[in-house]
Amino acid sequence: MKYKINNLEQYEEQYQEALSKPKEFWNKIAQEFSWSKKWTEVCEFDMINAEFSWFKNAKTNITENCIDRHLKDKGSQTALIFEPNAPKDKAEHISYNELHKRVCKMANALLALDVKKGDRVAIYLPMIPELSIVVLACARIGAIHSVIFAGFSSSALAARINDASCKIVVTADGGFRGNKTIDLKSIVDEALKDCPCVQHVIVAERTKTEVKMHPSRDNYLNDLLQNASEVHEAEPMDAEDPLFILYTSGSTGKPKGMVHTVGGYMVYTAYTFKNVFAYEQGDVYWCTADIGWITGHSYILYGPLLNGATSILFEGVPTFPNPGRFWDVVDKFGVNQFYTAPTAIRALAKESLEYVERYKLSSLKVIGSVGEPINEEAWQWYHKNIGKGNCPIVDTWWQTETGGILISPIPHVSPQIPTYATTPLPGIQPILMDNSGAEIKESEGEGRLCIKYPWPSIARTIWGDHKRYKETYFSAYPGYYFTGDGARRNKDEMYRITGRVDDVIIVSGHNLGTAPIEDAINEHDEIAESAIVGFPHDIKGNALYGFVTTKSDIKDEEQLKKDINALISAKIGPIAKLDKIQFTSGLPKTRSGKIMRRILRKIAEGNLSDFGDISTLLNPEVVKQIKDGRDA
Ligand code: WTA
Repeated sequence: MKYKINNLEQYEEQYQEALSKPKEFWNKIAQEFSWSKKWTEVCEFDMINAEFSWFKNAKTNITENCIDRHLKDKGSQTALIFEPNAPKDKAEHISYNELHKRVCKMANALLALDVKKGDRVAIYLPMIPELSIVVLACARIGAIHSVIFAGFSSSALAARINDASCKIVVTADGGFRGNKTIDLKSIVDEALKDCPCVQHVIVAERTKTEVKMHPSRDNYLNDLLQNASEVHEAEPMDAEDPLFILYTSGSTGKPKGMVHTVGGYMVYTAYTFKNVFAYEQGDVYWCTADIGWITGHSYILYGPLLNGATSILFEGVPTFPNPGRFWDVVDKFGVNQFYTAPTAIRALAKESLEYVERYKLSSLKVIGSVGEPINEEAWQWYHKNIGKGNCPIVDTWWQTETGGILISPIPHVSPQIPTYATTPLPGIQPILMDNSGAEIKESEGEGRLCIKYPWPSIARTIWGDHKRYKETYFSAYPGYYFTGDGARRNKDEMYRITGRVDDVIIVSGHNLGTAPIEDAINEHDEIAESAIVGFPHDIKGNALYGFVTTKSDIKDEEQLKKDINALISAKIGPIAKLDKIQFTSGLPKTRSGKIMRRILRKIAEGNLSDFGDISTLLNPEVVKQIKDGRDA
């Protein structure tokens, strides 16, 4: 396999080449793919105005590279293994040949509903094979997929559908998650009361829950597939045509629809999958994420399929029917690479070790972590009990915005340091900025993490709002991409990510903006004002603490707390519920009226004395009251 990094010299060589001659480097990597027309320019960019193009004027279709390209040699090899929620239900093995047929059929079904190149398709599905197939079918016909995690509420769904004016929504009657059934179709029905852009709804059948079908709008997927042909020629796409939109949280209430384009995303996810997971032909790879998040897009679907891999699609949850479920699946399929989130590791580490010891786990070669900083204890537990002390851990740092992994160890190549994401991959130039906005030049230091030079899968814009894209990522440090994360660099130039430095809080690996949660709470008639901060939590990493001021005296505090969480569930989803709520007579403010979140963060953490500089604090008496009434 070309460009596989097998030892430290090769890493150094590729890193140096990508640093000194980035265009030549990516030009060579991109040759591995099938393009119907080659590029005129490898890359053009303007880091001030946030404009990027990779493989300019080239034409390809990512599904030809994910599927068709492999048919000759690996048609009968398994592309996807679907492991259902209930262990008693049979797994489904989908070969590359079958995937090809099913994606083509789905592509024709979408075309029959008049979905055209460039149209947006919202996908609100559980982790069933149809989710992968619809995503790939959209890519095949050039429609832009917007997958919305099936845990979002109807109003969050509606906001995302409307933001991109989606023409079609693909959903299911319901979804299974552990011992719960979620009625997805009724959530869609509720959302669509406010979405005039939607012309058709496609309903896959999973739970056989009874659903209401709107005659002129709704279609069962099976009916559409019945008349659809298995033959479909992939639509030639420009390398810079949008491939998908994926929403992430930001510092205002409106979610940011990150836009990724075909060519650069394809090249970068394929290259990083191959190297970070040391994938070898015949291996079985499993990433436990949901396709509703970027990790699922890049490292369940696109990255693995581009490499002709076998990738597992898991419908269930780590603790159903018991906390041995992950390890059961690892042994069942002989998983070689396993990729999960620290929150899952911490939750399973809390359970009896007996759930791990029942299984051999001897097939594992590489184990990975993503989504939030992994603490030392969880790292050691994972290394010892799952990796049996001999599987490298790849602590992969990246973001929805970056499309692919930017900083990560390479198995058997980079040194392992617990809690460190270690070194940047070839093509990635991280730097740290100090508080004054100057670059920290010494090897050792701690600051805000920025990236100096673009890479192929950097998001191109925020859907419909390039100004916001530029302001969010390229204006804090003009000329650099600002990640929103803090990081520490040691004397060997290894990076450890310390966490978000903006208004995003990562709870159980989900990014949550404080502003949308505050907006949701403030809609309550009795609430005057609120401020949300994060505080450390043993399993979730962070949990949410809400400081809430009411307009008048509260009649029933417990009821109001319940109402607040119900409102958050309805507006965003249960993932954004608050662990602690404290009613306060006011919020600490600066003289200019800004909430001093720094003080609230300290109180939430239980640090009641060390508030730093409070010379601009307008209302010290409020701080005293809040300290006294802390929700411990
Ligand atoms: C955090 C997930 C520490 C980080 C791929 C980033 C991490 C945010 C790591 C992006 C890691 C991700 N160590 N923190 N290995 N990986 N993060 O967009 O704060 O869901 O900015 O993408 O997760 O989350 P997102």
